Amino acid sequence: MLSLNDKKRLLSQYGPWALVTGASSGIGKELALQLASAQLHLVLCATNADRLQATASEIQNAHKVEVKIISADLGTPAGVAQLMEQTSGIPIGLAVLAAGYGTSGYFAQSQLPNELQMLRVNCEAVMQLTHHYSAQFAAQRRGGIILFSSIVAFQGVPHSAHYAATKAYIQTLAEGIAAELKPLGVDVLSVAPGPVNTQFAQRAGMHMAQALNPASIATPILTALGRRTTVYPGYLSQILHYGLSTLPRFARTFVMGKVMKGMAGRG
Ligand SMILES: NC(=O)c1ccc[n+]([C@@H]2O[C@H](COP(=O)([O-])OP(=O)(O)OC[C@H]3O[C@@H](n4cnc5c(N)ncnc54)[C@H](OP(=O)(O)O)[C@@H]3O)[C@@H](O)[C@H]2O)c1
Repeated sequence: MLSLNDKKRLLSQYGPWALVTGASSGIGKELALQLASAQLHLVLCATNADRLQATASEIQNAHKVEVKIISADLGTPAGVAQLMEQTSGIPIGLAVLAAGYGTSGYFAQSQLPNELQMLRVNCEAVMQLTHHYSAQFAAQRRGGIILFSSIVAFQGVPHSAHYAATKAYIQTLAEGIAAELKPLGVDVLSVAPGPVNTQFAQRAGMHMAQALNPASIATPILTALGRRTTVYPGYLSQILHYGLSTLPRFARTFVMGKVMKGMAGRG
């Protein structure tokens, strides 16, 4: 749970509205719930309109905030343009860009259309939306952007090579723009979780023996915004990150390959 001070800080620094993509499920949905508990109004985006509506109703029953839903496929230029257009005129101060998914297995045997779609959703759409909202936030001299990296982002990962590459792109982008935007009053946070129990594993075809609950990582994420550039939320993310960070890069790739081989193809 967020402290009263953190709720006040989130509302005053990043309110009155927050955009959350990937809000129909998992980490995005949990962050939306916590932001509503801090009295931020919400724009929620995902593809599945029914799940979005159910999330919006759940949030409005629990908290007295306004919620708008935008059903858009962020794997298409039209979906990204629709989201930008339908949020124009809404005083958004925080963009939480959680929409994304993973794949696993041997890269050479993967379905290229699915890999290209993941590249568009995980990287192209995130870059376009970050560009759009960071320009807006810089002009208003305040705002926050939360991007989703992963512990897989810090080395090559056999058996989930392309997904890890999409997350390395986000981690690198976040670190660079965080330094550029800080003097303009805009906070950028990269979130690098370990395994989290959401719809992610099933879609990625992975089996996670141990995973964190989305509720247990949402508070550390929102608490880190404005205070750090990268957060490893939850004990499992921290154990995995700090354990791996003592190893040279080739050894991290070897270890992550062994771990991912046990997880891949078993969703
Ligand atoms: N779970 C983990 O272990 C883990 C670990 C590290 C990083 N992450 C990252 O955390 C983020 C959130 O994942 P999660 O674990 O919460 O997974 P999740 O439960 O599967 O949620 C993914 C969200 O993204 C939305 N989405 C997927 N494709 C979309 C598209 N083309 N257009 C618009 N929305 C789309 C989904 O909604 P619809 O299906 O309705 O479109 C859903 O709301 C992702 O970026 C993921 O890579 C997850």
